[in-house]
Amino acid sequence: MSPAPQPESGPSAAGVFGLPDPAHRLRRLRRTETLRAFVRETRIHPRQLVAPLFVYPGTGGRQPVGSMPGVERVTPDEALKDARRLADLGVGGLILFGLPAEKDATGTGGWIEDGIVQQTLRLLRDADLDTVLIADTCLCEYTDHGHCGPLLADGRVDNDATIALLGRTAVSQAEAGADIVAPSAMMDGQVAAIREALDDAGHHDTAILAYAAKTASAFYGPFRDAAGSAPSFGDRRGYQMDPANARESMREMDHDLIEGADMLLVKPAMPSLDILAAARARYDVPIGAYQVSGEYAAIEAAARNGWLDRRRALTEATTSILRAGAGFVITYAAADLAAWAREAI
Ligand code: PBG
Repeated sequence: MSPAPQPESGPSAAGVFGLPDPAHRLRRLRRTETLRAFVRETRIHPRQLVAPLFVYPGTGGRQPVGSMPGVERVTPDEALKDARRLADLGVGGLILFGLPAEKDATGTGGWIEDGIVQQTLRLLRDADLDTVLIADTCLCEYTDHGHCGPLLADGRVDNDATIALLGRTAVSQAEAGADIVAPSAMMDGQVAAIREALDDAGHHDTAILAYAAKTASAFYGPFRDAAGSAPSFGDRRGYQMDPANARESMREMDHDLIEGADMLLVKPAMPSLDILAAARARYDVPIGAYQVSGEYAAIEAAARNGWLDRRRALTEATTSILRAGAGFVITYAAADLAAWAREAI
């Protein structure tokens, strides 16, 4: 076999295009911040941000989350204050997670009428805020074993029993005022079960944001600390996706859309930018990304050590997620990002 031909040193860009002095051409539009702002392709708008809220029973309560500087668990009355502040900043939406007073094997606190998320949703709905109310629809915060649904005798999560309970959860959240329910349990058929339950209860206008491409990520660690939802045994790899798989993400998203999802969510965000870009090219529904607890905590921790510039790092991370194809980003930095975006105008 003859050796592969070696490429000759190629002609310069100037040679190919007949252009003078190529070294200066691209830098011309980077010269001043005014020029850079004029040609910027991606901007963060407050409406593209969704802020997570962790709520627990009681009044007047705020508890910092150790692994997520700046994030607090709050009681419903305090959640209303936070929600007003976020809505005033123009933040597009809020997503609620609940920490119930009691947990049990079937996650009852997730789907009862006066569950902590349902109570908070009623308060927020009655305040008529100009921000979208999203409820995370999962049972892991409410089960005493920390898995996303009731278990079979062998310890695996019971798929079909779980999707029935997720349907109940979604109906109770819709009844309490959720505009959007966001199933995140990664059970097969969960979107269809939720759509059917919502429609049967007359909630035809409640939209479903499917956490479609959600991997079994190491980056959820601080969330489980915030929500007290770490599994007491095993892990979630039997239902969340292997982070090594991109084609499987497309199958998950195909299924969720066929089942009736109105919007798709990719999670975690920065580790999944390829999936986000592929999803944006393939589907015409709104697509969001969840910049998860570990992505936020990593930046915060580095910033606290003086190793990263917090504002620039959060801005760059979020801009990159939007650039890759997200129409909105769920982020723990929503309030700061919204305030910075307003300053930038
Ligand atoms: C519920 C849920 C989780 C997150 C969002 N919804 C935890 C998990 O799957 O273990 C994680 C969000 C974050 O890390 O910020 N299943």
